[in-house]
Amino acid sequence: MILIGLQASGKSTFFRDYLAATHVSVSKDLMRNNRNKSRRQIQLIENALEAGHSVAVDNTNPAVLDRSGLIDIARIYNAQIIGYYFESTVSDCLARNQERSGKSQVPDIAIYATIKKMVLPSYDEGFDRLFFVRMADNLAFEVKTWPAEEVIDGQSDI
Ligand SMILES: Nc1ncnc2c1ncn2[C@@H]1O[C@H](COP(=O)(O)OP(=O)(O)OP(=O)(O)O)[C@@H](O)[C@H]1O
Ligand SMILES: [Mg+2]
Repeated sequence: MILIGLQASGKSTFFRDYLAATHVSVSKDLMRNNRNKSRRQIQLIENALEAGHSVAVDNTNPAVLDRSGLIDIARIYNAQIIGYYFESTVSDCLARNQERSGKSQVPDIAIYATIKKMVLPSYDEGFDRLFFVRMADNLAFEVKTWPAEEVIDGQSDI
């Protein structure tokens, strides 16, 4: 499971609320002083999949390239590739980030940098399923399936 979203869009909260019971969390945020975080991350994913666990990759994962390595590994282990895109505006993320304290708060510039890199995930990348997630009132999350392009009625294709 690949989480995709700006800083303070709710990924880690969603993980804690809905995925922690069934999935191992892998996140570069948990790594300190690790020179090659991507390589270390791949290693942790491999270990978990090897042991038969499901994994949630809890990073911003904004670019196709951030996701393609994860998708390749998932394929090797024949794991289902599920993407959760956390929809949120930059201003909402900036505001929620301001509310956070300590290490979880990031500089505003990090959020601006991520939005620049953000490319919406697509089935072309190899996802088996994609979902939109949006924060709802009373700290809940609204989850909608992302229709595969080929099942949208009345749409032309090229
Ligand atoms: N459903 C919700 N409604 C309103 N606020 C929420 C909701 N879920 C989480 N928050 C708040 O939003 C903030 C950001 O959430 P969270 O830390 O889960 O984001 P994140 O996407 O993991 O960010 P990062 O990429 O920086 O780790 C937190 O302060 C949290 O309390
Ligand atoms: Mg987080």
